[in-house]
Amino acid sequence: MRRLLPDQAADVDLFSSFNNSPGGVAQVRLSMVMSVDGSTTDEAGWTSRLGRPADKRLLRALRGVADAILVGAGSVRTGRYPPHRPPAEYRARRREAGRPEVAPLVVVTGSGDLDWSLPAFTDSGTPTLVLTCGRAPTPRLPADQVLVHGEATVDLDAGLGALRDRFGLCAVLCEGGPGLATELFRAGLVDELVVSLAPSIMPGRNRRLVDNPRRREELTLSEVYEEDGQVFLRYGVRARD
Ligand SMILES: NC(=O)c1ccc[n+]([C@@H]2O[C@H](COP(=O)([O-])OP(=O)(O)OC[C@H]3O[C@@H](n4cnc5c(N)ncnc54)[C@H](OP(=O)(O)O)[C@@H]3O)[C@@H](O)[C@H]2O)c1
Repeated sequence: MRRLLPDQAADVDLFSSFNNSPGGVAQVRLSMVMSVDGSTTDEAGWTSRLGRPADKRLLRALRGVADAILVGAGSVRTGRYPPHRPPAEYRARRREAGRPEVAPLVVVTGSGDLDWSLPAFTDSGTPTLVLTCGRAPTPRLPADQVLVHGEATVDLDAGLGALRDRFGLCAVLCEGGPGLATELFRAGLVDELVVSLAPSIMPGRNRRLVDNPRRREELTLSEVYEEDGQVFLRYGVRARD
């Protein structure tokens, strides 16, 4: 993987590039892959055939430096959403960085309509948390894995605060999908956006990365990486006024 901006480097260690110190300032990093024409899904309605192998390496590194992995219920409902399974090298590097080997998934749901027998809930290396709201039926999980914030919808700001204050989960990687990305942008909670741009144009009408933003967001490009035609754009998101 080479870095093109802000300086050129031939073989970059992504873990080091994206690492944050554990227990540091709360940060939400949103990372998603899309085709050049802005599609966030492949022909099968999933993401696995959207990006090239370099995309998976980036995702592994971003997961490797995260305290928690935040994902929307819509993505989990596809049944293809994997828990965090870091390779041995990343487990060791997480330990060295003072993090547990495996980052928990945090699933956001307003309806509570989820299949609790999916691997995301039953086969994760560390208990998956659910961030939900008062109107939802109680998830079929131990009570200490459930955070309720908001009544009709999830109060994401309060939920992220609870992840930080109750669980010490500060560096949050949000992996989408578009619905959750939209909610986070609307609430002004995205600090950093990492877009993985796949060199392809997808057939059909597909979802945008942020599906329905309420207002224009100005981004600051901080880094650009490339491998095998797959481009990674790292943006700072301007703080809300
Ligand atoms: N390109 C990529 O990087 C990428 C990444 C992930 C997923 N995807 C694709 O995106 C698709 C899924 O996206 P999606 O937009 O349908 O689903 P999503 O963003 O994964 O999840 C949306 C769901 O999250 C819950 N939610 C989010 N914010 C909420 C709030 N403030 N209050 C209450 N609930 C909230 C709601 O769950 P309830 O419905 O339970 O209320 C909502 O329906 C799949 O096709 C997947 O393959 C692409």
